[in-house]
Amino acid sequence: MSDHRIYVAGSRTFAAEVVDFARDAGFEVVGLLEPYDEERVGQTIHGLPVTWLDHGPALTVLRVAAGTGESRRRALVDRLLASGWQPTTIVHPRAHVAPSATVGVGAIVAPGVVLGAQAHVADHSVIGRGALVGHHTEIGPFATLGPGANVAGNVSVGADVHVAMGAVVRDHVTLGAGSVVAMGAVVVRDVPEGAEVRGVPATVVEERAPAT
Ligand SMILES: CC(C)(COP(=O)(O)OP(=O)(O)OC[C@H]1O[C@@H](n2cnc3c(N)ncnc32)[C@H](O)[C@@H]1OP(=O)(O)O)[C@@H](O)C(=O)NCCC(=O)NCCS
Repeated sequence: MSDHRIYVAGSRTFAAEVVDFARDAGFEVVGLLEPYDEERVGQTIHGLPVTWLDHGPALTVLRVAAGTGESRRRALVDRLLASGWQPTTIVHPRAHVAPSATVGVGAIVAPGVVLGAQAHVADHSVIGRGALVGHHTEIGPFATLGPGANVAGNVSVGADVHVAMGAVVRDHVTLGAGSVVAMGAVVVRDVPEGAEVRGVPATVVEERAPAT
């Protein structure tokens, strides 16, 4: 079995992006796995055949990259793991990963990303196009940084956090698990678990349920 042959889980627009990232990183994408809508199974989407996700163990290629956005990603990965899929990490060849930075299993690091010295990107997180992760910054599992997010050095980003595109996070700040930083926000102080912050400087706009 070739290590370079993978499926991408999902068949919507983010899946198309993950397919391209995977190809740029040297993978051969053999198909898409549909998790939600059986009517899509058997179709060709993004130029690839669509298979039902739970048929995974019957297939000869078991490696997979999760191609869904932030809100559904944890549930999708849980299901993939339960079905015997092997998560694949994709680091785009035009991302800059400092030699001392680390990237967890199943993470996706898009083109133009810069990961600074001793930064850590945890399992199953997504670092979007052109995002900057400063030195000694910790990105928690299933967190998502949108395109162009700028998270400074020594920041702690909790599990399941979503930092939307173009947001800026000051150094030494902690973003609590499950929090959301709206696009364009400038975060200057810690964000509580499950909170959503917006604006410049960012303030909490609503309380959200903590991630489970
Ligand atoms: C946080 C976020 C999810 C809020 O979206 P939403 O809940 O759909 O909000 P709405 O568009 O319904 O807007 C609700 C209000 O918030 C305001 N608002 C929305 N986003 C805002 C932002 N980023 N900053 C400040 N105000 C914002 C709207 O103007 C609106 O104000 P109003 O009620 O006075 O008219 C959105 O700002 C965001 O960041 N989305 C992610 C975008 C992204 O990163 N995409 C990646 C593509 S790859």
